[in-house]
Amino acid sequence: MSSDLPLAGKTGVIFGVANKRSIAWAIAQAWHKAGAKLIFNYQGERLKENVEELAGTFGEDTLILPCDVSSDEQIDTFFAEVKKQTDRVDLLLHSVAFAPREALAGEFVATTRQAFSTAHDISAYSLVGLTRAVLPFMEKNGGSIVAMTYLGAARVVPHYNVMGVAKAALEASVRYLANDLGRKKIRVNAISAGPMNTLAARGVAGLTEMLKHYELRAPLHRNVELEELGATGLFLATDGAAAITGQTMYVDSGFSVMAM
Ligand SMILES: NC(=O)c1ccc[n+]([C@@H]2O[C@H](COP(=O)([O-])OP(=O)(O)OC[C@H]3O[C@@H](n4cnc5c(N)ncnc54)[C@H](O)[C@@H]3O)[C@@H](O)[C@H]2O)c1
Repeated sequence: MSSDLPLAGKTGVIFGVANKRSIAWAIAQAWHKAGAKLIFNYQGERLKENVEELAGTFGEDTLILPCDVSSDEQIDTFFAEVKKQTDRVDLLLHSVAFAPREALAGEFVATTRQAFSTAHDISAYSLVGLTRAVLPFMEKNGGSIVAMTYLGAARVVPHYNVMGVAKAALEASVRYLANDLGRKKIRVNAISAGPMNTLAARGVAGLTEMLKHYELRAPLHRNVELEELGATGLFLATDGAAAITGQTMYVDSGFSVMAM
């Protein structure tokens, strides 16, 4: 890798690749092209082969490790394995979310205690748990942590329901983490993406209509491309964003500025 590349010599940890349409894969590709060495998680044996195949394109020796973020033990084991490879991590991507399918249709008022708790645990708390675990690796040189969010955190998006409430917790966590870690030169930001046709998004009722609605209403009159999320993920990872922390950055063709 040329040392002129903006992320040359940096190591990134990527949480959230499920397949080639995953937002995490788009950001991983951008970080890789910019010279970063990457380590990937996969959630359970079901997704191992996919992640192996994709990450393998970055070199046979790319480390991929299991980690279900709902388990503290798995997070600890994941980072203990990372430690065997490196003492230093510069970048962390959190591109993970889950809520039971029945909570992502119909009315929010029907959300069960269990669905509420699961959505918050996996989609919001996990950022706090992963950040705490990566901290010793960033303590000396600082770092950049990026999480993925959606407009349903700030406004009502039909069917997004409890995931919107969990994303609000995620975005607030980004701000609190940014304050905790700023003195260590660790920045924490979120990218609020427009709707993308991914595995997770297909769990939300009405995705097709939502994509059409963005085309019709967003100032740019089109949906967002995966590569564009990759480019913003790269920007947040580089020194170009050295003074940006605690923010939610909208990459949504401008949809969020519209009222009508
Ligand atoms: N697709 C969209 O429209 C959209 C828009 C804005 C934000 N986002 C956010 O982007 C992120 C990535 O989603 P995506 O759209 O790329 O879909 P995706 O299905 O490709 O990725 C979701 C990832 O979450 C992981 N995950 C779920 N539960 C987990 C657990 N318990 N432990 C570890 N990993 C777990 C899955 O394995 C998967 O890799 C999510 O935070 C999502 O909310 C998506």
